[in-house]
Amino acid sequence: STVYLNGAFMAMEQARISPMDRGFLFADGVYEVIPAFNGVLFRFEEHLRRLERSLSALYLINPHDRAGWRRRCEELIQRNGGGNLSLYLQITRGAADKRDHAFPDPPVSPTVFMSTAPLTVPTEDSPGQVTGAAAITLDDIRWARCDIKSISLLPNILLRQQAIASGAREAILIHDGFVTEGAASNVFIVKDGEIATPPASHAILGGITRDLVIELCRAQDLPLREREISEAELGDADEVWISSSTRDVVPVVSLDGRPVGSGRPGETWKILARHYIAFKR
Ligand code: PDD
Repeated sequence: STVYLNGAFMAMEQARISPMDRGFLFADGVYEVIPAFNGVLFRFEEHLRRLERSLSALYLINPHDRAGWRRRCEELIQRNGGGNLSLYLQITRGAADKRDHAFPDPPVSPTVFMSTAPLTVPTEDSPGQVTGAAAITLDDIRWARCDIKSISLLPNILLRQQAIASGAREAILIHDGFVTEGAASNVFIVKDGEIATPPASHAILGGITRDLVIELCRAQDLPLREREISEAELGDADEVWISSSTRDVVPVVSLDGRPVGSGRPGETWKILARHYIAFKR
């Protein structure tokens, strides 16, 4: 596939970065994952706004304005044949000539990398969603700024792998007795027809898909509250959903080996999924 690196498009095999890159040495960088459906970037402005916040949290200067990003992203999508793709975008603080925790002074130019991967688009009757996913709960061992979309993902990787090893698709994370989010997704529960999701804070990544689900629920008069969810409430929920840009909204039908509700995708999820798919068309 074709990738973008520091101003140029090239074959993936041609792309080279320095081992002195601070992304490699320190995970000193940020990223975004932006879906494109039929070659069209989805919720692009929202993703760019979050990227701007992540960059400024790291005191990194945004290398491009929004029009500049759009031009580059659209060209990369085109060069990879359009269709349904997820676009990966990463910016690191760049390669300095010595390894030093402190920022290079004077600053070096950032490393900007973008690539694409095929995206299987969930539809209302695609098998993944009809059967739903299994999840396990795990202790949230991450840091205190999970709102930054940092490339430093070691805890997320270990948590996700622990879920996979136990036959589940996602780890749902618990911090001090309350749900934060998934290892790479946001979490919703439904109880007695009311939908709830943890409030945006430094403890979670403000998902673009999460925002869209909230928006759709409001537009459809589905009762939704942003509020703290205890571990007990999670275990007792009628429905549990996880959301992300690459998987949309997936019903969790088994939690820690026990069925969630009926053990099948719930009625509220079905309503939401219908509106979600209609919105994307
Ligand atoms: N992850 N929370 C975490 C910790 C995430 O890593 C993600 C997404 C989300 C959902 O955010 P969004 O709806 O904007 O995709 C929530 C991406 C997809 C990834 O790391 O691949």
